[in-house]
Amino acid sequence: MEIRPLAGALGAEVLGLDLTGDLDGAAFAAVRGALHDRGVICIRDQAAMSPEDQLGFAARWGEISIHPYVPSIEGYPGIMKIYDPNPITQTWHSDSTHMQRPHAYTLLLARVLPSVGGDTMFASATKAFESLTPGFQAMLRGLSAVHEGTDLAASAGLDHDAVVAVHPVVRAHPDTGAEALFVNDNYVTRIDGWTPEESRPLLEYLYGVIGRYENTYRHRWRDGDLVIWDNRSTQHAVVGDVSGEERVLHRVTIAA
Ligand code: SIN
Repeated sequence: MEIRPLAGALGAEVLGLDLTGDLDGAAFAAVRGALHDRGVICIRDQAAMSPEDQLGFAARWGEISIHPYVPSIEGYPGIMKIYDPNPITQTWHSDSTHMQRPHAYTLLLARVLPSVGGDTMFASATKAFESLTPGFQAMLRGLSAVHEGTDLAASAGLDHDAVVAVHPVVRAHPDTGAEALFVNDNYVTRIDGWTPEESRPLLEYLYGVIGRYENTYRHRWRDGDLVIWDNRSTQHAVVGDVSGEERVLHRVTIAA
């Protein structure tokens, strides 16, 4: 196995693994370490993985989460089909932060790729936090933010209270201890105790810091890519520049 960084702030590719077979404990520990170190990794050349292989590998990361309002693909609870980039996935976010226990990891396997476009952007929320001054960091540590589910939750008939959660604006990673910004433009509606109008300027500033070029990595998908990201330390957004071509990826998320 070989692990190579893909950008300065985050991202690495992992070469020489075959996830259709058993992965020994030492190799899995090295992959997990690389993910915690780099925030997002791409395990190349996994086109032969079946849905069973993907679910089996995903289960090694923790409990597979069933999305509360987006259905799984037929016969494979826990695998969600991602297609047609939409406004929800085109905004910087980490996954399902409207949940009381937002997802720890997401595994996304390329199934059908367009000839061009549909890259996925990743940003290091850890590097973004580290770039702020100590005084500003200290102020942020005292704040929490309100995260609310999207309109999809309401259209699926879910009660609003079931898709609202309050999380600290700065979150320490449970494995590395590194602090990261934990607010995103998909789900955060306001700083807890502030109005949306009072919250917006601060939130916009933080989103701008997260998305600075030096905090990002742009993933250009290749056949067989299995990309895994850590939702505690990164954010992502798909680039909505696919026209008239299919783009299908299979997503599995792991509970915190
Ligand atoms: C997602 O936001 O989970 C999907 C990202 C992508 O389609 O690349």
